Amino acid sequence: MTAAAQAPGIPAWGHRHLLDVDRLTRAELATVIALGRRMAEARATGTAAGPLAGRTVATLFAEASTRTRVSFEVATRALGGEAVSLDAASSSLAKGESLIDTVRTLEALGAALLVVRHGRSGAAQLAAEHFGGHVVNAGDGWHAHPTQALLDLYTLAEVLGDARLPGAKVCIVGDVLHSRVARSDIWALTAAGIDLWVTGPAVFLRGFETWARALPGDRRLTVTGDLAAGIRDAAAVMALRVQRERLEGAGAPSEAAYAARWGLTEERIAAHAPDALVMHPGPVNEGVELPPDVVSGPRSLITRQVANGVPVRMAVMALLAGSRDGR
Ligand code: CP
Repeated sequence: MTAAAQAPGIPAWGHRHLLDVDRLTRAELATVIALGRRMAEARATGTAAGPLAGRTVATLFAEASTRTRVSFEVATRALGGEAVSLDAASSSLAKGESLIDTVRTLEALGAALLVVRHGRSGAAQLAAEHFGGHVVNAGDGWHAHPTQALLDLYTLAEVLGDARLPGAKVCIVGDVLHSRVARSDIWALTAAGIDLWVTGPAVFLRGFETWARALPGDRRLTVTGDLAAGIRDAAAVMALRVQRERLEGAGAPSEAAYAARWGLTEERIAAHAPDALVMHPGPVNEGVELPPDVVSGPRSLITRQVANGVPVRMAVMALLAGSRDGR
């Protein structure tokens, strides 16, 4: 597929796809945040331009989603494009058609940009190898959820301010092992200079100390099994969903045991991180990783994270639509 001409005001971008955030530099992350802010302003004033005008974005979701799927569709329309949604359960995937043939079919039907969610790590990469346009990974297995990481970074920059991001302490709490959000957040937040900590039951932290030691450059990631130390004086704490669908045989604690030991109650947060804001990628198991009063309380950024998904995904698709080369 031939890349479209660069839309006016959209910065040049050197990546054809967005499969993870691990290859994005700090400057590229700043580009996404700045363009996301412009997209938010344009939406608010009804002046969003149309870098996707005349182009079709197909969302192929082979796993459940509310926020990601709807926000990609809203973002597509806000950019002047047409959103086509493929529900895997009622598609020919359910008859045994392969992901590769599905991707080729969507391209033949005119899709210029493909948004893929799949339960298998590497599915978005596979799609990118067989699709002539641009692919955005909307979450693959445990591997990556790049647009979630970008909207998390965007939200932190919004509430803390750009100048306070480098060195700010943020702690991710919970099922890090099974979390594609945590993996992408580790790449994006540490690239932005955030002092990132992860904590949770030992069974959920396996392998992350090795990763922390291997992170390039001056990136800071601390792994601890001590919840109080992890969240102490953090500017923000991010609870992760206990992923019931991925826990079979994982030796994980019961939900009740998890909530008692690791749940981020207001009392716990107030005792160790009194100024902390609370994040969660959603969906929340209320009463497990977060109690309802924290989810909807004054510290919570959860609704803001969801809302920020639209301008950030607008920025990502506008950048990709104008990109010519590169992976
Ligand atoms: N955070 C996230 O990916 O939410 P959905 O599963 O609802 O898309």
